[in-house]
Amino acid sequence: MNWRFAYAIGFHPWEDTDPAFARKISELFDREEQGRKSPYGPALDLGTGSGIWGIELAKRGWQVTGIDIVEKALRRAQERARKADVDMRLVHGDVTALRAAGIGSGFRLILDTGTFHDLNPAQRDAMGREISAVAASDATVLLLVWPKRRRPLIRGASRTEVEAAFPGWRVVDVEPSHFRPPWVLELLLRPDEHWYCLRRE
Ligand SMILES: C[S@@+](CC[C@H](N)C(=O)[O-])C[C@H]1O[C@@H](n2cnc3c(N)ncnc32)[C@H](O)[C@@H]1O
Repeated sequence: MNWRFAYAIGFHPWEDTDPAFARKISELFDREEQGRKSPYGPALDLGTGSGIWGIELAKRGWQVTGIDIVEKALRRAQERARKADVDMRLVHGDVTALRAAGIGSGFRLILDTGTFHDLNPAQRDAMGREISAVAASDATVLLLVWPKRRRPLIRGASRTEVEAAFPGWRVVDVEPSHFRPPWVLELLLRPDEHWYCLRRE
């Protein structure tokens, strides 16, 4: 997927999420907050795009850093955060080089709504390594993953590939996201996406 081009032409169907998707992601956030009081601590929104879910986390009481490689996406995120009147740190950088991006460490929640599953194997390994370096010892990683299949645009990833990229982490849950793209994209792409929840072993 050419993300820069996608944002340049205004192609970002992942932003048109439906209520079922929003309910599911909210349920996952609830789980991370259960038994704790706001502020919940540092959260990292990888491939934050226009910041939709990072902003949601910030509204709920997380101290959010969002990172993306596309400057236009970050400008959209900045504008969205301003309108929502929330504080969210936005960083231009690569998820495969988080330490070099200077984002710091100790993140309790690491969210990725669609970056990992389109990276090549070397990039995935680098992303896993970098997450391990910046995550708190009790962190949770939430990864949205399309299955590996022969379809255009998004590469997809199998559970084995997720596990291989995160040595030292355990997949504790795999659950449907309930994401429904417009029917043409559904037919073409068959996303069948799932949330992978990982914790350190
Ligand atoms: C499917 S979009 C999701 C955007 C946003 N998280 C959302 O749910 O609306 C994937 C995002 O990952 C970003 N991305 C892709 N590869 C990246 C990389 N290597 N480093 C940082 N961001 C990346 C893209 O620019 C894009 O914004």
